Amino acid sequence: MSAIESVLQERRIFPPSAKASAGAAISGMDAYKALTSEAERDYEGFWARLARETLSWHKPFETVLDESNPPFYKWFEDGEINASYNCIDRHVEAGNGAKNAIIFEADDGTVVNVTYQDLLQRVCRFANALKKRGVKKGDRVVIYMPMSIEGVVAMQACARIGATHSVVFGGFSSKSLNERLVDVGAVALITADEQMRGGKALPLKSIADEAIAAGGCEAVKSVIVYKRTGGKTQWHEGRDLWMHELVEHEAAQGADSCEPEWVSAEHPLFILYTSGSTGKPKGVQHSTGGFLLWAAQTMKWTFDAKPDDVFWCTADIGWITGHSYIAYGPTAIGATQVVFEGVPTYPHAGRFWDMIAKHKVTIFYTAPTAIRSLIKAAEADAKIHPKSFDLSSLRILGTVGEPINPEAWMWYHENVGGGVCPIVDTWWQTETGGHMITPLPGATPLVPGSCTLPLPGIMAAVVDETGQDVPNGQGGILVIKRPWPSALRTVWGDPGRYKKSYFPEELGGALYLAGDGAVRDKETGYFTIMGRIDDVLNVSGHRLGTMEIESALVSNPIVAEAAVVGRPDDTTGEAVVAFVVLKRSRPEGEEGKRIANELRAWVAKEIGPIAKPKDIRFGDNLPKTRSGKIMRRLLRSLAKGEAITQDVSTLENPAILDQLGEVR
Ligand code: PRX
Repeated sequence: MSAIESVLQERRIFPPSAKASAGAAISGMDAYKALTSEAERDYEGFWARLARETLSWHKPFETVLDESNPPFYKWFEDGEINASYNCIDRHVEAGNGAKNAIIFEADDGTVVNVTYQDLLQRVCRFANALKKRGVKKGDRVVIYMPMSIEGVVAMQACARIGATHSVVFGGFSSKSLNERLVDVGAVALITADEQMRGGKALPLKSIADEAIAAGGCEAVKSVIVYKRTGGKTQWHEGRDLWMHELVEHEAAQGADSCEPEWVSAEHPLFILYTSGSTGKPKGVQHSTGGFLLWAAQTMKWTFDAKPDDVFWCTADIGWITGHSYIAYGPTAIGATQVVFEGVPTYPHAGRFWDMIAKHKVTIFYTAPTAIRSLIKAAEADAKIHPKSFDLSSLRILGTVGEPINPEAWMWYHENVGGGVCPIVDTWWQTETGGHMITPLPGATPLVPGSCTLPLPGIMAAVVDETGQDVPNGQGGILVIKRPWPSALRTVWGDPGRYKKSYFPEELGGALYLAGDGAVRDKETGYFTIMGRIDDVLNVSGHRLGTMEIESALVSNPIVAEAAVVGRPDDTTGEAVVAFVVLKRSRPEGEEGKRIANELRAWVAKEIGPIAKPKDIRFGDNLPKTRSGKIMRRLLRSLAKGEAITQDVSTLENPAILDQLGEVR
């Protein structure tokens, strides 16, 4: 039975405990319904109320939603705001300067606490340093950094001066970094000498150097380097600067304050690249006001975060989850959060549980892949089993990034949550800016594997290929029917692609197409996500375009043709399977293994290790129709090891199926 089938047959229901409901921001289904009906009754009024209550505005907005040029929607446009002010200054002004903003734990276990007052000082000093380097409002700054206090400071400092940041995950290759630097037109790059992961030092600065040397980055005037390990780096005088020296210089001059740059709510706060169905990643552009509103509001609603909570999101700042639920959401509401540099398996696979106990984490947010891999480790070694740690501080658990299978859900619930912590299975995307469909811990009865119901104000629906609603119980395409404040505003530099990808004419041009399939339960109306309906794979919660990996493979001089598909995987959710035709004859045996390893390393170099195919199969050809179209449907079956039951009469070369079905 597939993971989705098992969710659809899932009948266990876990109502919220009295403890979870008591004092919750949304304390029951009646409170939830009151909010959803408020949004239905007066959509703009609902969002305006939240925006006024949740954020601090320098100049209040008068217009709420501008729909005059669909699908380029604008929210709170005439309002002026600054994200960094909202995330830091206002808490200090309210007397919470001494509260911990960040509890940072390094790879080696060293802990550093940063109060809101400290954070303000660090951000102001660095913001002033950026300004001195000529970085100004509207400029783009690329951040290629490890999980660190400095990474958060860099993001907040950009926000403070109105520069738009674009964070590139530290696991991406120099080529991926180069493409993003060029596409976004960066004027500065902030990086580190190295990053520490699992006891190992991994390069960043040398990759950044390669990325810039690859060309097209003439606009990059400064490369600012956070000294993490002191490892050897090459230095480009005039261009390269140590972050600590810049900051010390500001400190010496007493430049500890920096007036926030007040920007329109529509000012682009950041651009984050994500994979789509074509080869080139999309620069998803987010606004300041709408994005921040939802990052803050969902902290309160989905996580029911309170002043005394210790929140921990294990994502990396290189992904959207690290933007919304590390850099901005927790700070926007003045919470205390744990920021972790390392990996869940170092020095042992009980690291997460150990850290929860040590820092008394109350809200824990992670990915199903992490849970699945830790289950295996815990069941094999009692010492690192969550039951061997004091996890009694936990109140709420969350998951994100991919479907969670009911078995993993139950394990998480019982062993980490002690059978009492609600699990919020949050469905959302880089493009949505924040949670869209998720349980509310004090209100929603939980069903393992279902992300349950949309948040108030989010008009999610399941439709057919023409955009018509389908009845509950029938699968279809997941869409959002009305614009919402934290939605992406455009694809950077490519408004046409934004329109075509997200508001396709086939669905009438007005519905936001999420790219996922979904089905709603007949009785409860709960949503279950059935995975991507486009050529996007989800490997360990990371989004990868099949075309992106294919382009990487065919750029290798020995490869003639490649087709990439996904295959379900017990740990990573999906695994990448590549079917490859070489320019020479098909390799077999040891030679095949050697070339497969070479190609894996090639993909790691072209995109990053996360994109490496798990399985590479060589053929003399690929299964094609007589008109030359690759039959991916068949490749998907072959990848899964299924018998081919589809009609293959249109196939030009049926014999190829036997060759490609062979598992190497
Ligand atoms: O397929 C859905 C899956 O992840 C995709 C979005 O990926 P990304 O933009 O990288 O953002 C990940 C973090 C928000 C979605 O289109 N996805 C995300 N959350 C869930 C999910 N699939 C099932 N259940 C979820 N809770």
